[in-house]
Amino acid sequence: MKWLTKVHDLSEMDQLAKSLSGYLKPGFVLGLGGDLGSGKTTFTQFLAKHMGIRETVNSPTFTLLKIYRNGLPLYHMDVYRLESIGYDYELDDFIYGNGVAVIEWYPYIGQMLPQEMLTLNIRAIDEKAREITMEGSGAYARIVEDLADRYSH
Ligand SMILES: Nc1ncnc2c1ncn2[C@@H]1O[C@H](COP(=O)(O)OP(=O)(O)O)[C@@H](O)[C@H]1O
Ligand SMILES: [Mg+2]
Repeated sequence: MKWLTKVHDLSEMDQLAKSLSGYLKPGFVLGLGGDLGSGKTTFTQFLAKHMGIRETVNSPTFTLLKIYRNGLPLYHMDVYRLESIGYDYELDDFIYGNGVAVIEWYPYIGQMLPQEMLTLNIRAIDEKAREITMEGSGAYARIVEDLADRYSH
């Protein structure tokens, strides 16, 4: 299931993260794609806020992984540095863990990803507007359907 939508500014992006946050549960895997500056980290920050995380969430580019524990754990990964390697098995425990895994640049570790996951690909239209393609397989397809349905009314 694939849904193409558009947000006009940060507050609509925040709203989308809020809507998605209602579906999060242990083992949830979310891949974030899109160019540098498209909004992957920003979306993760909004998502974290709606998960009740009060710590500052910033880009884990140089660490690969940051863990936020506050109720449902958030495993925030940025695998940009793995582009030429394609994997880092130390991340396995977190991708297949008991928290919510959010993976910026997920296509770079294609071979490590589960068959069923949700992906959000973000494209900047201008300074504030973003086109978002949300895709989900397996149980995640239902979430995409749900969100698309909610936003169409
Ligand atoms: N609608 C929007 N959604 C997400 N980010 C936006 C939006 N409008 C403006 N921005 C800005 O775009 C930048 C996105 O940067 P960032 O989230 O770090 O991107 P990435 O992690 O994809 O490299 C931030 O400065 C953010 O404030
Ligand atoms: Mg980022």
